[in-house]
Amino acid sequence: MSAGTGLLDIHLTEDDAAAALRADVRAGLTAPLKNLPPKWFYDARGSALFERITRLPEYYPTRTERALLIDSVDEIAAATGADTLVELGSGSSEKTRLLLDAFVRAGTLRRYVPQDVSAPALRQAMDALAADYPQLELHGVVGDFTAHLDRLPLGQQRTVAFLGGTIGNLRPHERRVFLDQLRAVLQPGEHLLLGTGLVIDEPTLVAAYDDAAGITAEFNRNVLHVLNRELCADFVVDAFEHVALWDPVDEWIEMRLRATRAMTVHVRALDLVADFAAGEEMRTEISAKFHVAGVRQMLQASKFAPVRTWTDPLERFALTLAVAAEGDEMA
Ligand code: SAH
Ligand code: AVI
Repeated sequence: MSAGTGLLDIHLTEDDAAAALRADVRAGLTAPLKNLPPKWFYDARGSALFERITRLPEYYPTRTERALLIDSVDEIAAATGADTLVELGSGSSEKTRLLLDAFVRAGTLRRYVPQDVSAPALRQAMDALAADYPQLELHGVVGDFTAHLDRLPLGQQRTVAFLGGTIGNLRPHERRVFLDQLRAVLQPGEHLLLGTGLVIDEPTLVAAYDDAAGITAEFNRNVLHVLNRELCADFVVDAFEHVALWDPVDEWIEMRLRATRAMTVHVRALDLVADFAAGEEMRTEISAKFHVAGVRQMLQASKFAPVRTWTDPLERFALTLAVAAEGDEMA
């Protein structure tokens, strides 16, 4: 399908997304500890709220990763020689422009493949990129990086970017499955560029997920608006408060929504009734933070050989370039 600004593959149709949302909500609202997967934050409003988060003074990850990209993109372009840049969870593709510019300078890049679960965010990003990169083939993919990696387009020499620390939104076993699946679809010699938040002091971490302006709280509550609209639910959104806490054992930030009073919620499209006790919390996101050595071990476990890691002076964020290794290289 053409987006008007390039090719757009739909690996996740509206019907698929609706079925996946229904399954996730049924499982999450009937679990003993209620939970919802974070991918459902990102309707058009959620994606716009995330963009506002990236500009908040407390939310250091985006600007830190941008600074790391500025320092590293030319080396990345030279080391990878990519003709195709695939980006998973690409969102607005704003930081990606630094990579695109470097690859264009290096003269190797032919095509950019942004993949995102959010069709509105992807279309908006592609419209903006088409105007600024007329020499690049744009091939967008509406898809889920936990389900549709095997359908990514092939290339001569692909580099896959997974930025922003989004890998930390997956649970540990999901990360392992994700990296194994990604390695399985890459040829030896193709590359992964991975952005990861690092473990730092708790007050800085918590502030990044509980900003003074309340934008992250709105982002968190947005998932309830999505459920009300898509599943005819009747969540009283303002009766849920935003919670962000640091779990020092699992080394992740956990975002929750806390019911400020006892409530009975009807999800009419599922014929489901969910009772919330006063003070009950529902988990909506984990955002795991890492240690540089742990990132490298995680990559090696899935047969990616780390090439180089860049970190900022405060060691808040890491950008790691890794290469898909031959099976026996990592033994
Ligand atoms: N990479 C960008 C955006 C990060 S926000 C940055 O670094 O700023 C996370 C993005 O991942 C959102 O655009 C969201 O829609 C997308 N996303 C979340 N879960 C996803 C999934 N399972 N599959 C594909 N995209 C997903
Ligand atoms: C997309 N992801 C890496 C963000 C994060 O930091 O975990 C999502 C986010 N949640 C709250 N603020 C930002």
